[in-house]
Amino acid sequence: MPTSKKKADQYNDPKHNYLDYWNGRDYENKSEIIALKRFLKGKHFKNAADIGGGFGRLCIFLKEYADKVTLAEPSQQQLDIGKDYLKDQPDIKMVLTQADDLKFKDNSLDLITMIRVMHHLPDPTKEFSEIKRVLTDDGVFILEIANNIHARNRMKYLIKGEKLPTKPVDIRSDANRNDEEIAFVNHNPKTVIKQLAHEGLKVEKVLSVSNLRSQSLKKVLPESAMLAIENVMQPTLAKAYFGPSTFLLIRKAV
Ligand SMILES: C[S@@+](CC[C@H](N)C(=O)[O-])C[C@H]1O[C@@H](n2cnc3c(N)ncnc32)[C@H](O)[C@@H]1O
Repeated sequence: MPTSKKKADQYNDPKHNYLDYWNGRDYENKSEIIALKRFLKGKHFKNAADIGGGFGRLCIFLKEYADKVTLAEPSQQQLDIGKDYLKDQPDIKMVLTQADDLKFKDNSLDLITMIRVMHHLPDPTKEFSEIKRVLTDDGVFILEIANNIHARNRMKYLIKGEKLPTKPVDIRSDANRNDEEIAFVNHNPKTVIKQLAHEGLKVEKVLSVSNLRSQSLKKVLPESAMLAIENVMQPTLAKAYFGPSTFLLIRKAV
């Protein structure tokens, strides 16, 4: 299993523009916003940072909940795309930094989000310890996990007569499965919750997200219907870890 401890500059590949990835993924984007709104409802923060925030997809939304928002990202190319994407948002700060060595002071951020980054962190121990260091004592950390034990995968493991893996599962193709290529793993959220606890971080709430992620469903159901169903599914199926993405609301353990 590759580690994440080397320089996380994989998104500097000029052939790859992460903005394009979002074409045709409005349902996933809006599902994530629904989840974040649920967790952030009624809260307001002084200093927020979106770690591994890419080009800043979620930063404008986060501004509704925080006085200051920082896009914290290890890829210069992502930040360069962000400069254009966020050109009308001069107050959103950009910092080149990666999660295992954060360029923030101790206890300086009261809201941290890290969405769609766990895919690239086979062992997030150092990252969690850094996040705990920079989080204020009453701060909130929202983490998205690429969930390996979602309903469809559980069915696959059952059919194969295999146990559900507790360790991260490498989901790269055979051709890309080498140390030079970017790590791509799905996690068991129950293991991640234990890893967080080990670093002194406690999960308060769980949501099951992007529950209807399916090209076939997108063809037959209007987006508004999918999002209405998604809205109901997120809390009700959270404990079953039903969807391919799990959102956690985390605080420092006291
Ligand atoms: C799939 S993109 C997600 C971007 C953004 N969070 C979003 O949801 O739109 C993954 C991002 O994680 C960043 N990344 C990869 N390894 C990282 C690390 N060790 N620390 C922080 N960010 C990392 C990449 O540079 C990339 O921008």
